[in-house]
Amino acid sequence: MNKKIALIMVIITSMALAQNGKQVFETYCWGCHHQTAVAFGPSFSQIASKRSIEEIEAMITDPATISTILGYKRNAMPAFQLTSQELEAITAYILSFKPKIDTKQTIEKKAQ
Ligand code: HEC
Repeated sequence: MNKKIALIMVIITSMALAQNGKQVFETYCWGCHHQTAVAFGPSFSQIASKRSIEEIEAMITDPATISTILGYKRNAMPAFQLTSQELEAITAYILSFKPKIDTKQTIEKKAQ
């Protein structure tokens, strides 16, 4: 396949994934989590900065067990029965809020 077409398809797929993730977020998670601000639960940027895909997916599927493993004394988050696509999409959405540290810019600034 043409490289350009392949690249465009990858971009479209990841955009669709992010869009679905946003929908899952608005349907199930929004009441307790916000993207960057702490609500009842931690913000997605906090979660993304310290958790792996596996930890996030496990927490959504089985919070009663996983919250203890993640260091919470009590579990206030309910379990969600999501399809594997929804689970993949919401996890990608959460991880898209990972804070970006631009080391190159910081190094350039120091050099000036
Ligand atoms: C009723 C409120 C509520 C809803 C709805 C909710 N959460 Fe949570 N969530 C919490 C709370 C509170 C915690 C902190 C741990 C606990 O109490 O179980 C948490 C923790 C988490 C964590 C782990 C945080 C960490 O330390 O890494 C993830 C991941 C997470 N939530 C994802 C989701 C996703 C995705 C949804 C939607 C599908 C969702 N939550 C819906 C309340 C909620």
